[in-house]
Amino acid sequence: MFSLSDEDLKGSILGCGDGPASFNDEMTQKGLSVVSIDPIYKFDSKLLEQRIDKVYGHVLERTRLNMDKYIWKNISSVEELGKIRMDSMEKFLADYEKGKLENRYIVGELPSLQFKDDSFDLALASHLLFLYSEQLSLDFHIKSIDELCRVSKEVRIFPLLDMNSNRSPYVDEVIEYFTKEGYSACEEKVNYEFQKGGNKMLRIKKNGSPQH
Ligand SMILES: C[S@@+](CC[C@H](N)C(=O)[O-])C[C@H]1O[C@@H](n2cnc3c(N)ncnc32)[C@H](O)[C@@H]1O
Repeated sequence: MFSLSDEDLKGSILGCGDGPASFNDEMTQKGLSVVSIDPIYKFDSKLLEQRIDKVYGHVLERTRLNMDKYIWKNISSVEELGKIRMDSMEKFLADYEKGKLENRYIVGELPSLQFKDDSFDLALASHLLFLYSEQLSLDFHIKSIDELCRVSKEVRIFPLLDMNSNRSPYVDEVIEYFTKEGYSACEEKVNYEFQKGGNKMLRIKKNGSPQH
């Protein structure tokens, strides 16, 4: 999703809206540094496990009803997708309480984060910004990305599509806004594509000086 190189992974990474995913656990096991934030981390593992069990079937059912919106190449069926997702959530749950004690899973919520300026080398946000364009306003997107740019030297967001697999109406305005603010903001193709057309990320980096 993010074209992560070995060099990228060596830096300190913020995963924003990481949810019940295994990225933090897997990177920590490799000795790498990832901090995940999400409002759901206010709950304990028992409650999160119950919630996962409750919504799991519903999420798969929704995917089954929208099968034509996805590319079934690397993942061949809804059942296989379910297994991959469940494996990932189980890894997350097994790591969660320990990770909380180690401050790797922190309660936090855009558009305002508790970290100091430039705390991270790279901030990643997958399936949150742009995807929920119907629910989250352009103003929320700009404030949130501005905040991610404050706490991190570079920000990557994936995908650039909304829930209906249309390009989010905010992408161009976000690029224009951050370019004017003196950032480099570029759309880049990535190798991962599951949601049809969802093979691009936005990379935003501090660069140059404001144009106004
Ligand atoms: C669809 S999930 C994506 C999880 C993961 N990043 C992935 O790609 O599989 C969206 C996540 O964003 C979290 N979230 C919702 N509002 C948020 C906010 N304002 N700031 C940070 N995370 C938020 C949700 O709790 C949820 O875990």
